[in-house]
Amino acid sequence: MAKKSNQSKTLPIFILNGPNLNLLGTREPEVYGYTTLAQIEKMCAAQAATHGLSIVFRQSNHEGEIVDFLQEARTGASAVILNPAGYGHTSIAILDSIQMLKIPLIEVHLSNIHKREPYRHHSYVSRGATGIVMGLGAQGYLRAIDAIGEILKDSK
Ligand code: DQA
Repeated sequence: MAKKSNQSKTLPIFILNGPNLNLLGTREPEVYGYTTLAQIEKMCAAQAATHGLSIVFRQSNHEGEIVDFLQEARTGASAVILNPAGYGHTSIAILDSIQMLKIPLIEVHLSNIHKREPYRHHSYVSRGATGIVMGLGAQGYLRAIDAIGEILKDSK
């Protein structure tokens, strides 16, 4: 059952990106594709607009800054899309921040982490996520926005 939002739908979706995602486009493109993070941001803004929603799009290479963003989302966001990148596999602190949220959170991975190295198969974030999209490349962010559009519409 999706987490219901009790926050205003006029608040933006926070789209948060973890370490090394600033290098998308040139970082192992055979795994992560050629689309840059700036291009993903533009695509997300356009997709959110089709649902009457807005976004705040951020990236950080620092675990604590991602914790800060998630704390800010408690009162500042209608929903969160999080690609935790490498921190998904290691960070209990990020999971703790997610578990304080009362809004939907969709975990996104560009690659299918289950097809990859065994150390990528477990994600702490998944335990706190409403849903997960993986393996669809940059399109995954758009599908996560669509899911949030539906969840927020259903919680009217
Ligand atoms: C990733 C998958 C992670 O295993 C990796 O550490 C990343 C990106 C993805 O989007 O496929 O940095 O989250």
